[in-house]
Amino acid sequence: MGKIIAVHSYKGGTGKTHISINLATSFSEHGKKVCLMDLDFRAPSLATFFGSKEVECWLNDYLNGTCKIDKTLIDISNRINGGGKLSVVLANPSTEAIREMSAKDRKWEMRALGRLLALRNSLLNDKAFDYLIFDTSPGLQYSSINAIVSADLVIVATTFDRSDVEGTKRMLDELYDLFEKKTEIVMNRVLYDISSKSGKNSLEKKIEDMYQAPVLGMIPCFCDVARAEGAIIFVQEKPEHLFSKIVDEMADKIERNNSM
Ligand SMILES: Nc1ncnc2c1ncn2[C@@H]1O[C@H](COP(=O)(O)OP(=O)(O)O)[C@@H](O)[C@H]1O
Ligand SMILES: [Mg+2]
Repeated sequence: MGKIIAVHSYKGGTGKTHISINLATSFSEHGKKVCLMDLDFRAPSLATFFGSKEVECWLNDYLNGTCKIDKTLIDISNRINGGGKLSVVLANPSTEAIREMSAKDRKWEMRALGRLLALRNSLLNDKAFDYLIFDTSPGLQYSSINAIVSADLVIVATTFDRSDVEGTKRMLDELYDLFEKKTEIVMNRVLYDISSKSGKNSLEKKIEDMYQAPVLGMIPCFCDVARAEGAIIFVQEKPEHLFSKIVDEMADKIERNNSM
């Protein structure tokens, strides 16, 4: 049975999109059938990355009830190494669509949740995807809450920035726990030395004590990542880079926990 992973955060710019793209690619390079979806309707990012020429329908259209889920799927497996499959579902990045999505009322959002749960059944049960990865908006947007409600695992991308830590702690207590979600932390842009095993273990313990939640991964601040300007998939184009190795380890960990 496949799983939905929502990648969420309190603040913006914590690395959700970067982590989502690389995690999805890592899974598919290891033979899994993966669908990466842009649920960040405020700042859609995956259309820029994967190109929007092949889009028949946006995820917005599916949630509006004007399009079937099959028409939103874009198979990009031919762009990925290895034996797996990767599809993407894109959010509409036009200004008009962003304005329209941010004006939706509660009733619409409830219907959208129903559609998201139907999408889950269609993609996981009928189409046998192994993983659906939701790249979400930061904070308490309705669309993000719907993504969290639909997910089996929430990956919380956070940093040591003080306001991010405080906000993330509140979300752990008041949001993820409320929905009884399995939640794991990815600490991004780490500036501590985690090259030794003891350095890594002590930082992991510090983060777990701070958040009272398990750590899925710790990612150093990499100038190479910043320099790439969000234009390349590291696990694909720089598989030997430490960032790629950390993402592969995170994917392995999720896969191991899944099969237990
Ligand atoms: N560990 C890191 N080191 C350096 N730059 C990073 C790191 N993680 C992410 N970034 C960069 O930070 C920027 C914001 O990341 P992004 O994934 O778009 O964040 P979000 O989706 O949470 O808003 C991107 O340019 C990304 O490449
Ligand atoms: Mg993003």
